[in-house]
This record gives sequence, structure tokens and C-alpha cells, in this order.
Amino acid sequence: MTRRAIYPGTFDPLTNGHLDIISRAATLFDEVIVALLVNPGKNPMFSVPERVEILNEVLKPKLPQVSIETFEGLLVEYCRQRQVNAIIRGVRSVKDYEYELPMVLMNRKLNPDVETVLLIASEENSYISSSLIKEVYSLGGAIEGLVPSLVIERMNLYRDR
Ligand code: PNS
Repeated sequence: MTRRAIYPGTFDPLTNGHLDIISRAATLFDEVIVALLVNPGKNPMFSVPERVEILNEVLKPKLPQVSIETFEGLLVEYCRQRQVNAIIRGVRSVKDYEYELPMVLMNRKLNPDVETVLLIASEENSYISSSLIKEVYSLGGAIEGLVPSLVIERMNLYRDR
């Protein structure tokens, strides 16, 4: 039986921390679906198509067992549609654990057949977050080595729009 997992998130932008978790998930599962939440409520740096393109360009050459999809609405409903019973989430700290725990329990309440697998990011990626990357970049700080180089290229390209 093919073991499949969904790694959900907003990926605005994709960071080396995300890549760390995706690589670890790819060692545990035959197929990993990176599922980008379409959330019109947020004011993202990159549009959904731009984020999908970045994810595809960065992940496809390295990890052929990883696919990129988008979803709206409840994550557990999307899991049901895709017939996947494992959700991957990355944890960098106790603070992340406290953020994730209610979501794990709520998702379990909504669908007891779906299990959440919490993966620990490596130490060198443990302080990287999309929101910090955006803040540091917007204030002129260096983000090399924290996100894929394609992300920096695209951030530079879209800086003045
Ligand atoms: O990258 P993020 O912002 O940490 O991802 C959060 C995400 C997308 C995993 C979470 O917001 C989510 O699952 N949203 C879908 C709506 C949903 O199912 N909400 C109930 C979760 S308990």
C-alpha cells in the first residue's frame, strides 16, 4: 500500500525550514502532497500561482515523490477527498508545539482517521519562519542561506511592484 501524507501550509515564502520538513517527510512516506492553503483573508507577499511555481521549481528536481496542490476549506476534508490519513507538521520549538497541539486535537476530533505527524526541524533551521524572512528582507537584511535562492530572486523581482 502506498503511504501518502499531506504537508499543509501557506509557504509565503517557502523557507529552508519547510524544505527540511519536506525532505524528512519524503523519507517516511512514498508520496508527500505539499498542500498550499488558498486563504483570501491574508495579504500575502506572493500570489498562490507564484507560490505554486516556486514550490514546483524547487521541489520537483530534488524530490520526485513530492507533488504540489492547493486546497480551500477544512484540511481534514481535503485529506478525505485525497484519501490521505497523515498530516505532516514541522515543529521548531515548544512554542510551535503549543500552537500545533490544539490543531492536532481539533483535526482529530473532526476526523479521527487522520493522524498528525509532528517532525522536528534541524537546529540550523529552528529559527527560520516565513514571517521573519519577510520582515528581515523588507528591512534590508540578508536572507541568503535561509530560503532557496529562487525565492530571493523572486523577492527581488517583485520588490517594487
Ligand atoms: O503555514 P501555516 O500558516 O502554519 O499553515 C496553517 C494551516 C494551513 C495548516 C492551517 O491554517 C489549516 O489547516 N487551515 C485550513 C483550515 C482548517 O482546517 N482549519 C482548522 C484547523 S484545526
